[in-house]
Amino acid sequence: MNTHFSRCHSVIAYCVLVGLVLGLEDGPDRPVFGAPGSPVRLSESDPGVLKAIKFAEERYNMASNSMHFRRVSKIISASKQLVKGVRYSIMVEIGSTQCKKSSVKNAVRTCDFLPEPQKQKTEVCLFEVWDIPWENKSTLLKQKCRPAVSKELKKVAAVPLTHGKPAKESVELLTEFKNFMTKYNRTYSSQEESGKRLRIFQENMKTVQTLQSLEQGSAEYGVTKFSDLTEDEFRMMYLNPMLSQWTSKKQMKLASPASRAAPETWDWRDHGAVSPVKNQGMCGSCWAFSVTGNIEGQWFKKSGQLLSLSEQELVDCDKLDQACGGGLPSNAYEAIEKLGGIETETDYSYTGHKQNCDFSTGKVAAYINSSVELPSDEKEIAAWLAENGPVSAALNAFAMQFYRKGVSHPLKIFCNPWMIDHAVLLTGYGERNGIPYWAIKNSWGEDYGEQGYYYLYRGSRLCGINKMCSSAIVN
Ligand SMILES: *[C@@H]1O[C@H](CO)[C@@H](O)[C@H](O)[C@H]1NC(C)=O
Ligand SMILES: *[C@@H]1O[C@H](CO)[C@@H](O)[C@H](O)[C@H]1NC(C)=O
Ligand SMILES: *[C@@H]1O[C@H](CO)[C@@H](O)[C@H](O)[C@H]1NC(C)=O
Repeated sequence: MNTHFSRCHSVIAYCVLVGLVLGLEDGPDRPVFGAPGSPVRLSESDPGVLKAIKFAEERYNMASNSMHFRRVSKIISASKQLVKGVRYSIMVEIGSTQCKKSSVKNAVRTCDFLPEPQKQKTEVCLFEVWDIPWENKSTLLKQKCRPAVSKELKKVAAVPLTHGKPAKESVELLTEFKNFMTKYNRTYSSQEESGKRLRIFQENMKTVQTLQSLEQGSAEYGVTKFSDLTEDEFRMMYLNPMLSQWTSKKQMKLASPASRAAPETWDWRDHGAVSPVKNQGMCGSCWAFSVTGNIEGQWFKKSGQLLSLSEQELVDCDKLDQACGGGLPSNAYEAIEKLGGIETETDYSYTGHKQNCDFSTGKVAAYINSSVELPSDEKEIAAWLAENGPVSAALNAFAMQFYRKGVSHPLKIFCNPWMIDHAVLLTGYGERNGIPYWAIKNSWGEDYGEQGYYYLYRGSRLCGINKMCSSAIVN
């Protein structure tokens, strides 16, 4: 499935593109998450809404720390949009029931709410569920919750709702926005577009404040090159929500456990197994970068030689995946095995849009023989990584849009581990000022994060980082 973004490979084309994206109402091959059908309001008893709520509730509960099963107490609004299936947007209230999670499996809808309202810890949540009926597939695209009443967390709720800034802050905002435009070389096609981008920038700065004020680690969030994009635009251009569907894929072979316990700290960058940070551009090809990074490490371990391998080969020739529209590492390994190997970056260079497959057996620089899935225990992942090489992983990237540096430890409500939408490479792990971290090689250029790297808190399965770890095997 090709997208409009996929044809644009230069970051310079960026501004033009944003305009294009926004002006885009319809088209022969519009993006999966674009805006084709207009939203239709739905009644609370609509069967599709009920099914979507059941699914969202299930995912919500898997991710929540609550001991009690929580369920929807009130539907505030519901709408749907036809987007290659149906995308439901549902606003609800959720509260705790008397049923303990450990004791309920299926009959959850019959659980009564806790009698005392304050113990229900009511939240207001926005869910977006993408339902593809003909594939029996549902994906939770968005889950945004905030406490409905709780005083202590009021700032979570308050910050995104503040409006009408005093004049002084507006000047600061304008200055910040101007600095952003200069630093990242942005120009906008019209006055109207600049105004719109400024408002988005302003909203994003509020999100930054929220993330920052609730940060549990040492991360700094702030202006990044993605600061003029809405969360949805960012997701559509750079992320890969299809990763959430990996559960419906076939199981991979399990990796044999590491033979030694994990050393305190390890980083494959110190051992020559990691190529420089690359840039996927405006193409949802993170899965390809994650996989080449892994194979570069595996090939280094086999041959002692560090090659930079071709993502474009995967974008063009991996028919199991969807090029800039997203993909799964598990499919990519299989595709490379079928093709018979992978070329180098130099021989088959990155353009960031799908082209005809130009693979030639004569230029194969590395091969793989199979692939494995790692255990989901972070200690075991660390031990495996130290022994075997950098690991392909995936995570919920919500906190990444505005990340600048430090060890990121967002609140779990910002980072549902079941909404995985970005694939990356774990190159190492360690501790910084007492905070354990994963060192994550990203594919958004060296001007992202810490020289292209993102550091994420390690040890609480944060953002689902432990859920989708895998590696190629070279015999
Ligand atoms: C979808 O699920 C239903 C009920 O679980 C089943 O009867 C049907 O065959 C499934 N269809 C596909 C395409 O998997
Ligand atoms: C900034 O963008 C313009 C066109 O939008 C381009 O011609 C110029 O080379 C860019 N400069 C840098 C430093 O990227
Ligand atoms: C691994 O794959 C390569 C390339 O396909 C092949 O030449 C080699 O024999 C395989 N090794 C094993 C042990 O199967």
